[in-house]
This record gives sequence, structure tokens and C-alpha cells, in this order.
Amino acid sequence: MKVSCENLYHPLKIGNLQLSGNLFLAPVAGYSDCAFRYVCIEGGANFTYTEMVSSEALVRSSVKTASLLTRAENEKQYAVQIFGGNPKIMAQAAELVLQKAHPELIDINAGCPVPKIIKSGAGSALTKDYEKLYLVTKAVVEAVKGEIPVTVKIRSGWDSSNLTWKEAAEAVVSAGASAITLHPRTRAQGYEGKADWSLLAKLTDFIDRRIPVFASGDIFSPEAAKNVIEQTNVDGVMFARGAMGNPFIFAETSHYLQTGEIITETPQTRIRAGMKELQILVGEKGELPACREMRKRFCAYSKGLEGSSQLRTRIVTANTIRDFEDLFAPYIQD
Ligand SMILES: Cc1cc2nc3c(=O)[nH]c(=O)nc-3n(C[C@H](O)[C@H](O)[C@H](O)COP(=O)(O)O)c2cc1C
Repeated sequence: MKVSCENLYHPLKIGNLQLSGNLFLAPVAGYSDCAFRYVCIEGGANFTYTEMVSSEALVRSSVKTASLLTRAENEKQYAVQIFGGNPKIMAQAAELVLQKAHPELIDINAGCPVPKIIKSGAGSALTKDYEKLYLVTKAVVEAVKGEIPVTVKIRSGWDSSNLTWKEAAEAVVSAGASAITLHPRTRAQGYEGKADWSLLAKLTDFIDRRIPVFASGDIFSPEAAKNVIEQTNVDGVMFARGAMGNPFIFAETSHYLQTGEIITETPQTRIRAGMKELQILVGEKGELPACREMRKRFCAYSKGLEGSSQLRTRIVTANTIRDFEDLFAPYIQD
């Protein structure tokens, strides 16, 4: 059955940045490197975010951290996400990112729930401490001097009795951010339970079109993207876990939002995308580290393949490109 989803897929402006559509790859640590972002762009993503990059490490000029900034070959527009709890260091890091990587946007992480990150006053500690969030955002906005937009990704709050998304959103707007993303789970929830989309609807009401609002959380299918846009009035959506193993979810979603028709990429095409991702990662890291990194990603790519549980036991011991080619050969023959 076809459903009408008129105007849910549309171009978008974030500050002075024009984007062709409103379907984004979320920042995801351990996934959103230039190899995965490459295949997501091939798969129809309109905009892509790096994983969170430490402002402290950038300022200390860590080589490993700088490699997180690498732009994918096909990436005409991308965002670098930075994290930190010190406004001065965040400003310095933003300047460095601008000089070294020239991204089209810098995003500030105010959502990470990992204890080590929170202890330094970064990540979701900033959604709670919204006065500091204001200072951090303002410092980064001033550091980029209007060259590119600065945006912020928040959570709904610290825990169910401390929901501070509204105060955090007001801090972000008054500090001069050009857009806000809400992942409507609390820090205490981590990635468990359900994302509370009703908070996204409340946020769009509260923001009242002052800046664009984006949704992240439990958007695992084209239908979910349609539902969250319709139910909450957000301007765009981010796919995180929904893109793992299926970088074509973006094209599938834009097609659905424009036509109401569900299309699904074949497992063969998905595996080929995984092999392309592996090839790029080998160029970045060398064969063994890339193959080790790709094990978890190929487990996602292999979902739905015949005999996938046996396949997974082989995936988790693969060490070379040849190992992966051999184990996927029966699935990708023409
Ligand atoms: C493994 C993992 C790593 C993540 N890393 C980041 C990150 O670096 N920066 C960030 O803002 N969010 C990060 N997130 C949160 C996602 O961007 C997203 O908000 C969250 O997973 C909810 O979306 P989903 O339900 O579509 O996965 C991460 C999530 C996961 C599962």
C-alpha cells in the first residue's frame, strides 16, 4: 500500500549551509569514520557527522585524533563533532578543526553518557549543566567567526527526575547555535528503553522555528523516519544504529518519503558496500587493524543472510581481506 508523505523529505538550511535533504548519518563512535561515511553517502545520506573527537586531544595534537577528521573522498559536505567541558579548550579545538579539516559544520556533543567523558564535564554532563553548555557553545561559535555553523546534540536530561532539555535548548539558542539535535533518552538510560519522541514534539514547539531541530533515537526504518517527522515536526532525522549494516537506509527512506513505496536493497549489494568500506579502512589503518574493526560491522551486514549465525562465527576471526572475500563469495556471486 502506498502512503502519502508529501514534503517530509526536503532541502534544508543550517545557518549559512545549504543541504540537499534532511536525512543524516549520526555521529557514532567506532563507526562513523571516513570509510563508513563513504558508503553512507553512496547509500543516499544527505549529510554525515564524524564520531565525537576529543577537544583536549586535538589541542595536544594527538595524531590518532587528527585522523578522525579525515574527509571521505565522496564527502562534499560533512560535520565534525567535538566534545569537551572547557570552553577555552573547545574554542581552540574548533579553530584547529577549521584549519585542518575545513568541515562545513562543527557539532558539539552534549549527550555522551560514558562515565569517563562525563567526569570531565563533557557529553551529557553539559545537558545537565546548561550554564556551562551556554559558555561552551558561545566559545565555539565565537571561535569559528561565522565561517561555518555550530550545532549541538543533547539528551533529554540526566535521569527521569532531571529532564533539562528545555533549559539546555534555550542555552544553545541564546549562545548562537544554528541547529539542535535531541536524542530523547536520559544519560541514565544510556541506549536502553525507548526514545521518548513526545519530547521531540515539545522541543519543536519550544524552539518555535528559531533554529532547525533534528531527531535521533530509534529511527530504524523509513517508516520510523516518517512517523517521527509527522509526530514531532522535526526538520531532519539522524540514523545511527539503523545505518549499521545498511547504509542504503538513506535512499530507502528518501524514496519512501517521496513516493510512499518501500524499496529494500539486496543483501548482495549490502555486502558489496561492506567490502568497499573494508577496502577504504585498509587504506586508512592497514589490513589487520581494519579487518579487526570490520568484524563487528560485517556482523551487522550479514544480518538476514542465509546461515548468518554460522557466518558470524567466521567473521569474528577474519584477519585479511581474502578471509572476508572467501566467506562472502557464495553471497555476492553474480
Ligand atoms: C556505539 C555508539 C556510539 C555513539 N557515539 C556517539 C558519538 O560519538 N556522538 C554522539 O553525539 N552520539 C553518539 N551515539 C549516539 C547516536 O548518535 C544516537 O543518538 C543514538 O544511538 C540514538 O540513535 P539510534 O537509536 O538511531 O541508534 C553513539 C551511539 C552508539 C550506539
